[in-house]
Amino acid sequence: MPAGGAAITSIRIADVQHEFSDIPGVREDVIRVMLQIKQLRMKLLDVDTARLRLEVRGSGTVTAADINTPPEVEIVNPKDYPSWPAGCNAGQLAATGDVLHFAACLGAACLSGPVTLAQAQAPLSVREYGRSLLVDKTGRPFKAAQLAAGEPHIFNYPFEATPVFLMALPRAAAPVELSDAQQHRYQSLRGTGAAHNIVAYSAICAHKLMYPTPEISFINIRKGQANEPPHVVHCCGDNSRYDPTQGGKVISGPAPQPLAMIVLQWNPKGDELHAVGTLGAEMFQAFFEKYEERLMLLAGTRVRNKSPPTAVVQTASSYSRQLQSCKA
Ligand code: FES
Repeated sequence: MPAGGAAITSIRIADVQHEFSDIPGVREDVIRVMLQIKQLRMKLLDVDTARLRLEVRGSGTVTAADINTPPEVEIVNPKDYPSWPAGCNAGQLAATGDVLHFAACLGAACLSGPVTLAQAQAPLSVREYGRSLLVDKTGRPFKAAQLAAGEPHIFNYPFEATPVFLMALPRAAAPVELSDAQQHRYQSLRGTGAAHNIVAYSAICAHKLMYPTPEISFINIRKGQANEPPHVVHCCGDNSRYDPTQGGKVISGPAPQPLAMIVLQWNPKGDELHAVGTLGAEMFQAFFEKYEERLMLLAGTRVRNKSPPTAVVQTASSYSRQLQSCKA
C-alpha cells in the first residue's frame, strides 16, 4: 500500500477521566493538547494502522520528534507540533495512539508526572469550528499583550454574526465544574496566555439572548460588586450576572446556565490568539431563529456563515455605538 496522509485517531491518558480534565503539573489542559496534536501530519508505510508511544522525562519543550514511532510511521512535521511550551515540570510523559489513514486526529500532551496514553475513543464535548486568527482592524495579528485586565473586547465567532467577549482577567482562571440548563456537566477550560488569564465567552445572554449590536449593547463586562469577582459580565435585560473567572457561571439573575466558552489557542512565539471552538451550552440556533431578520438587514445572507480565517477584535466601546448602563 502506498504511503498516505494519516493522523492520530485515539489516545488514552491514565488517571485522566475525560477531555475536560487538567493534567496535574502540566501547563496545557487536555483539550488544548488535543487540539495541538490534531495538527500532526504523518505517513503510514504499507500498513493501515500503527501505535505510537511518547515518553519524556524532565522539563523542557516536547515536540513530535520525541514520539517513539515504529518504522512504518513517519511524522512529516516533527519539529512543528505540538508546540508544547518549555517549562513543563519535571516528570514523565508516556503516550500511545493509533494512527489511521486520512482519519481525524485526537491528541496527547505536554505532561509532567507519570501518564500513560493508550487507545480510547474520546468524543470531545468541545465543539470545533474553523480556526480564526484574531486580528486588529488593520488585519495584523492581535497580540494577547494588548489586552488590559478587565477591558472588554469583542470579535465574532464561530459565525459571522455571533459576538464574543474577549478579556484578560487580573489573575489566572482555573477550571471549574459547571452544568448547563439540562444538567449536562462539563469542566470549564483554564484561561489561556502566558498567565492563563485570557478568556472568551459568547456575548449572547443565556437568558433571553440579548447581545451587543453595532448600535447598542445591553450586555457588557463591568466591575464586580462586593463579594463578586473584580469583573463580571452583566446583562441589563433582567440583570443576569456571570463570572468570567469561573467559566462564565451565573452569579445572579434568571439566566439558567453559564455563557458558552470560546476555546482559544495562544501561540507564545507571536503572542497570537486563535479561536478554535466552543464549550458549554451554545445558544446560536435560538439566536438565529430569534434575530434572523434583524441580522440579515445588517449582514445579508452571511449571518449563518462560519467565521472566516481571521476575526477582527475591537473594544466593546468601538463595537457598539452606545453601551447601555444598567443597575445591578
Ligand atoms: S436577556 Fe439577559 S438577563 Fe434577560
